Amino acid sequence: MALDVQRPDLTIAVIGCGVMGQGIAQVAAQAGCRVLMFDAKGGAAGAAKDAIAGALSRLVERGKLNQAQVTAALDLLQPVGQLADVATAQIAIEAIVESLAAKHALLRALEPVVAADCLIATNTSSLSVTAIGAAARHPARVAGFHFFNPVPLMKVVEVIDGALTAEWLEPALSAFARRLGHRPVKAKDTPGFLVNHAGRGYGTEALRILSEGVADAATIDAILKGACGFRMGPFELLDLTGLDVSHPVMESIYHQFYEEPRFRPSPITAQRLAGGLLGRKTGRGFYDYASKQEAAPMTARGSLPDSVWIADGPNAALIAGIATKAGVRLGSPQSASLIVVPMLGEDATSAVHRLGLDPAKSVGIDPLFGLDRHRTLVATPATERSRRDGALALFTADGTAASMIADSPGAVAQRVLATIVNIACDIAQQRIATPEDIDAAVTLGLSYPQGPLAWGDAIGAQKILAILERLLSITGDPRYRPSLWLRRRALLGLSLTHPED
Ligand code: NAI
Repeated sequence: MALDVQRPDLTIAVIGCGVMGQGIAQVAAQAGCRVLMFDAKGGAAGAAKDAIAGALSRLVERGKLNQAQVTAALDLLQPVGQLADVATAQIAIEAIVESLAAKHALLRALEPVVAADCLIATNTSSLSVTAIGAAARHPARVAGFHFFNPVPLMKVVEVIDGALTAEWLEPALSAFARRLGHRPVKAKDTPGFLVNHAGRGYGTEALRILSEGVADAATIDAILKGACGFRMGPFELLDLTGLDVSHPVMESIYHQFYEEPRFRPSPITAQRLAGGLLGRKTGRGFYDYASKQEAAPMTARGSLPDSVWIADGPNAALIAGIATKAGVRLGSPQSASLIVVPMLGEDATSAVHRLGLDPAKSVGIDPLFGLDRHRTLVATPATERSRRDGALALFTADGTAASMIADSPGAVAQRVLATIVNIACDIAQQRIATPEDIDAAVTLGLSYPQGPLAWGDAIGAQKILAILERLLSITGDPRYRPSLWLRRRALLGLSLTHPED
């Protein structure tokens, strides 16, 4: 059965006209589809049309649309009073409350109303598409079609086949997504689908780092934004979403994957949620919004060291260049007043111990991330205060930001990036999505500066593997075990986007 999604008279139904239904109706009308809007709450569909009219006129003010386009789109939006009024739709998209029982009840009411070949799509973000479809009389016509908020701006949509979904739905929904101006990504019906699965690493690893007392939330955010180019720090993001939303999602995905250690949530968010520290919506989360507050850049309190010795490691020459530019003499490990150790997946303590160096004089540095934008310096528990201050003075002498953190394997950025790449590799290994779709979904859906697989290639698959193996060996925590996808490609020297067959 093929549906011509390009037909000019394509009619879709949007059922549930809240935040998401409204956005979906807007993009569909702008793409020239007739949209029948139904909501169980009287007046809600009409209110959604009014809200769309407001959104479109703001686009006119900003010169993005002309009045004729707005009129044409609004003419296509038709709020209806009863579910029976969506009978002519060729595609019905439900965006009602996130409840399996409610979605089942809707399916039972909808199927007798629409034509036998009407495609039924669910915008569920966390329920199984297979479980939703199982209640239908014809589960083969039910698929997932997961948009992101706000729909007109987030130009990606996950197209999800349930175990019972017919093969023709995915190509039809993907083509329909393209008509809407969205990039379809195909994902298997698994917990979190693609984007919410791939996005697990950022917040959970940052929380892990916070829980180890490595640095405070503002410093971790500053490092990840400055050194890696993330638009928002993980704690800023948790505050924006609200812990009432993020914490249950973290718990749900962890349990749905049967306590997969990679997704283990943190007691920190459970406790803060209980205390009402939800984030922006309550005025206080990891940040206090009554007195907003960027992380104050660390300033050097000490004076420059007389001399420095840089241990061998990634970018050692570059780090030595920073020291000589600051006018600090290069000495030997015995003579230098400061020892700087480039770290790869190790903590400063392990590196210093392995190399037989004096821990009191030693400071680790992340040589992979932020040498030019935000440097991360790592103290061992034995590093003297004067050497910490001297290292900060040295690495901020040219005006570059730097943070001094407590000891941590892989500092901050290496841990977070390796975790993100590892999870993306495992998504590829489980054939949840293709490497190309994984990278597209993450850049469009999570606004990361690069797709995780391309990013892993840019850093180097062998380096990511080494970071994870050292994290695993130092912490003994299976959350850091490398994905087989990553391991094989790193050992064979292949790109992380290299497919299996
Ligand atoms: P919402 O609460 O803003 O809107 C839901 C609407 O559905 C309400 O207007 C409600 O009156 C209506 N409704 C409830 N039961 C109904 C029924 N049986 N028949 C018709 N209308 C009914 O919710 P939101 O945020 O728009 O979410 C809708 C769906 O989209 C959920 O499945 C959610 O998980 C999913 N989703 C939400 C995202 C978000 O960021 N809010 C992102 C992606 C997916």
